[in-house]
Amino acid sequence: MELIRIPRIIQDTCKKHLQKGRSIGFVPTMGALHEGHLSLIKRSKMENDVTAVSIFVNPTQFGPAEDLDRYPRDIEGDSKKIRELEADVLFLPDDRMMYPTGFSTFVDVEKISGKLCGEFRPDHFKGVSTVVSKLLNIVRPTRAYFGQKDFQQSVVIKRLVKDLNFDTEVVVCPTIREHDGLAMSSRNAYLNPEQRHAATALFRCLTEASQAILSGKHSPAKVREMMHAVLSGEPLITAIEYAGVYDPETLDAVAEIKGEVLLAVAVRLGNTRLIDNMLVNT
Ligand code: PAJ
Repeated sequence: MELIRIPRIIQDTCKKHLQKGRSIGFVPTMGALHEGHLSLIKRSKMENDVTAVSIFVNPTQFGPAEDLDRYPRDIEGDSKKIRELEADVLFLPDDRMMYPTGFSTFVDVEKISGKLCGEFRPDHFKGVSTVVSKLLNIVRPTRAYFGQKDFQQSVVIKRLVKDLNFDTEVVVCPTIREHDGLAMSSRNAYLNPEQRHAATALFRCLTEASQAILSGKHSPAKVREMMHAVLSGEPLITAIEYAGVYDPETLDAVAEIKGEVLLAVAVRLGNTRLIDNMLVNT
């Protein structure tokens, strides 16, 4: 595995691979890698000649009161996991490499960036869109891999790839979960044992809602009520930011449940913010 810290160098390395006719799969991450991240790397390995992974805790996607400083970092453990999976390239830039003095160009995917998480994290998706655009320009991957866990992020990235004519296929991979259903997330490390137990309410709320829909409950308001009731029954959940039934393309709340719908939820357990989602085909 080649470890590269300089954008210009990985750009040249990837260009050479492409010139030799090799496909490149790319997995952008912020590190503290878990099985969810590793599933993306495995998928990329299966579908491409070369797999590149990036680890960069991107400051522009964190709000001023968010967890940038305490975000978990484990470069040594991460490199070991990536090496074991036999990824070919690890890109590990620092803040100055990605945002040198004078940096002033941002990518903002309008409308969908302001929905759901965007209402509670203003500018979050602008930071994500900017860094992902930069990374796609640096690596020029044939395919880029993202998790369904961050559903809205995948919708925003598909939009920007289309709008800005990136020559990359966006591949969205299933959410990997713990045994009790909790979606794996680097932020789960913040939870104390009681909060970790309480966090299972997210998956419970999604599975109960999806079962209700599949057994004929077709009122979005009723399903939303049910989801809120499950989450409100957990005293350690300190706030429900959103929970409901949405259109998977526009991310608007649906007026009726028809075709494919997105169940999505964001809550706070103390200082920790958790999200999860599930697609249901009616
Ligand atoms: P990060 O949270 O590190 O996630 C990196 C990738 O792993 C994302 O595509 C995310 O959706 C996926 N992922 C996270 N948990 C997952 C799970 N349980 N199952 C499957 N996939 C999972 O998302 C980011 O980083 C950043 O916003 C980034 C795209 C790297 C831009 O900075």
